[in-house]
This record gives sequence, structure tokens and C-alpha cells, in this order.
Amino acid sequence: MRTLITNIKRLCQTEEGNENRQRVSGKDMAAIPGIDHAWLMIESGLIHSFGRMADIADAHANEYIDASGRFVLPAWCDSHTHLVFAAPREQEFVDRIKGLSYEEIARRGGGILNSAQRLKDTPEEALYEQSLVRLYEVMRQGTGAIEIKSGYGLSTTEELKMLRVIRKLKENAPVPIKASFLAAHAYPTDFKQDKEGYIKLIINEMLPKVAGEGLADYMDVFCEEGFFSVADTERLLEAGWKYGLKPKIHANQLHYSGGVQVGVKHHAVSVDHLECVGDAEIDALMGSKTIPTLLPAAAFFLGIPYQPARKMIDAGLPVCLATDYNPGSCPSGNVPLLLTIACTQLKMTPEEAVNAVTINGAAALELENELGSIKNGKKANIIITKKMPSLAYIPYDFGNNPVEKVLFKGEIF
Ligand code: NIG
Ligand code: FE
Repeated sequence: MRTLITNIKRLCQTEEGNENRQRVSGKDMAAIPGIDHAWLMIESGLIHSFGRMADIADAHANEYIDASGRFVLPAWCDSHTHLVFAAPREQEFVDRIKGLSYEEIARRGGGILNSAQRLKDTPEEALYEQSLVRLYEVMRQGTGAIEIKSGYGLSTTEELKMLRVIRKLKENAPVPIKASFLAAHAYPTDFKQDKEGYIKLIINEMLPKVAGEGLADYMDVFCEEGFFSVADTERLLEAGWKYGLKPKIHANQLHYSGGVQVGVKHHAVSVDHLECVGDAEIDALMGSKTIPTLLPAAAFFLGIPYQPARKMIDAGLPVCLATDYNPGSCPSGNVPLLLTIACTQLKMTPEEAVNAVTINGAAALELENELGSIKNGKKANIIITKKMPSLAYIPYDFGNNPVEKVLFKGEIF
């Protein structure tokens, strides 16, 4: 099966010949390589070849798509979400408008504990069905690979239930999904007075089961004052590594907690959130392989200070962006909107923002050899935009879906 896309206004994020960028950092984030007036051939679900319309040679295909006036780019790689959840939490949104903070709501038993109660009351099948609807919605907005966390279970049975839902999504969805085990998201009510007991439960009971069933790719911890300390995080990450689960953690959302440093020390694939980042955190990240992942849509929704993206990019770091889709701090998995927030609030340029959710998003999912750029042999998970004047129009035209068609493994979704 061959699909030929012709007359592409600009084919974006191309890699030619032996080029094989694993991530883009610092000043390099300012550019998106591409070809104007291009064609792209897809064969058996993979990118087969591409070039300039003027040089098109073998134009035989089973299916043809005319992309006149449209941009073609790799689908978004959303490397941090909590897309499996049981119910919305709009009452907490109203409480925050009236002055309560995210942390106060959590201390009163709302927040993550609220979601844990609702999850417990929801059968696995129903949880799967509603999560699938959310997944399909973000796929229509161009998401072509995604990470999903557990963390609303907070007991062995319920964490396994969540992870099995994620596994079923993996089996049935046409996009790659990575699963992170986040039992260390909050202390459940029955362990409020026995935090050590909950950490032991995670390490001695949950982890062996999760790893035994092969349910997770990564180990996550909400490393934050009032949640899991740096010392707790170290123990949990060491335990995860014993089962081959690499860390991918929540760090420095609400405080300068040492989360970034502990993530780097334990070779995290990424440290995520990063509202509270200064020179010490940047120094820790420089020269490490850990990818700093910013979640500005959550900062937007909570009304807290934004991540210092400029300072990080100017220091030479490879910045990644992800949605954090979850019912509390970011009830949206909309990547185009995330791009707008990154541009208007973090002062990232449209090119930097697109790099952050394509090539760097793929790296934060460890899918950099499969996705994230237009390169021969990579998976044909591809966005064809609506007609638009420039790439900057995507974040500019905010609130609207810039995606006209999206292809997964070369098939129109
Ligand atoms: O990434 N910060 C911790 N976890 C989520 C929010 C979870 C929730 O409020 O349900 C986050 O923002
Ligand atoms: Fe999160």
C-alpha cells in the first residue's frame, strides 16, 4: 500500500540522508528544517521517500492526497498525560477561582484523592471506554504518540486496574502509547498517618506485580513538598530501576524541591513540570541526558508562574513540551492550544514550540528512532494542516484545530 501526498506547501521537520537528530537543544530549537512545495511517499505505514515537486520521479501509488496550501509535519508526541481518569473536577476549578490553592484543595481531601475515589467507583470497562474517547479526541488534534500514567489508583488493585486500561488502549489504538507507574502520586487516605507503610506497599507489593505483568514502561513520582520528598523519591526510583523501570518524574511544580536534581542523579528520561527552575536546576540538567519537559498548560490552568523556557533554551537545553492532560490541573490534551500557551506565555517561538512537541517529545518517549521527524523509515504518523499561510499560524489561530487530516501508520484517521 502506497500513499502519495503531493503539492505540500511546506514539508516540515525533515531529515535527509544520514541525518539522525535524537533531540534539538538550545539555539538549534529555533529552526524547523523543511522543503517547500514538496511530495511525500508513504509505503506500508512508513515514510518511504520525500522531495521537491519539481523533482518527483516515481509517482505511482494506491492513494493520492493533494495537500495544496497545506503544511505536513510529524504528529505531536505528547510525553506526559494522565488521560485515564474517571470523572472531571470542575468544582475544584470553581474553588480555585474563589481563592483556594491547588495545595489547599489537596490538603482537604480533594485533588488526586478525589480522583482516586471516583476511579475506585468506576468499573474497568467504563474507565476504558471514557479514556478511549479522550484519546481519540486528542488524536484528531494531531497527537500521534502519547504517554499515560497511573496514579489515581493508590492501592494495588486500583493501580493495576488503571495500568490494565492503559495496556488495553495500547493494544487497540493506532498510536504508540507508553505507560508510567505513578502510585507515588499522593498518600491515600488510609496511609495518611503511615507514609512509610505506603512507600513499602509500592516497593514490596505493587512494583513486583506491575513489573511481573509488564504493565509499565516508566517509574513516576510526584516529588513535591507535601507529597513525596526527595528521600522518598530516591528510594522509589531505585526500586523502579531494579525492575527495569526508568524514571520519568514530576518535579519542581510548586517548589524548588530538589526534584530536578534527584531525577538527573537517577538518570531520569525526563523531569516534568519545572515551574520552579533556577540556575541550580539548569546546571544539573546541563550535560545530562535527562530531558526537561515543560507543562505550561497546567500552569495556565492553575494560574501559577510559568516555566522559564527562555532561560533554559538560552542555556542550551533541549526543551520538551507536553500537555499534562488530567482532571485537576489541566483538563485538556489539546496540543495546538499548548503551543499557543508556550508561545504567548513562555515566549517560545513557534519553531521552538513545534520542535518541543515533535522531535523532543519523541525523545522524551524514547521513540526518537520511530517518530518525531519526517525521515525515511520512520512511522508515517503525520499531520496535514488546514490551508494556512505559515507554520506560525498554528499557535496564532488559537482555540481552533489546525489539523485537517491526520495519518497514523500511513492511514487516514
Ligand atoms: O501533573 N502534579 C501532580 N499531578 C498532576 C495533577 C493531578 C491532579 O490534580 O489530578 C499534574 O499536575
Ligand atoms: Fe502530571
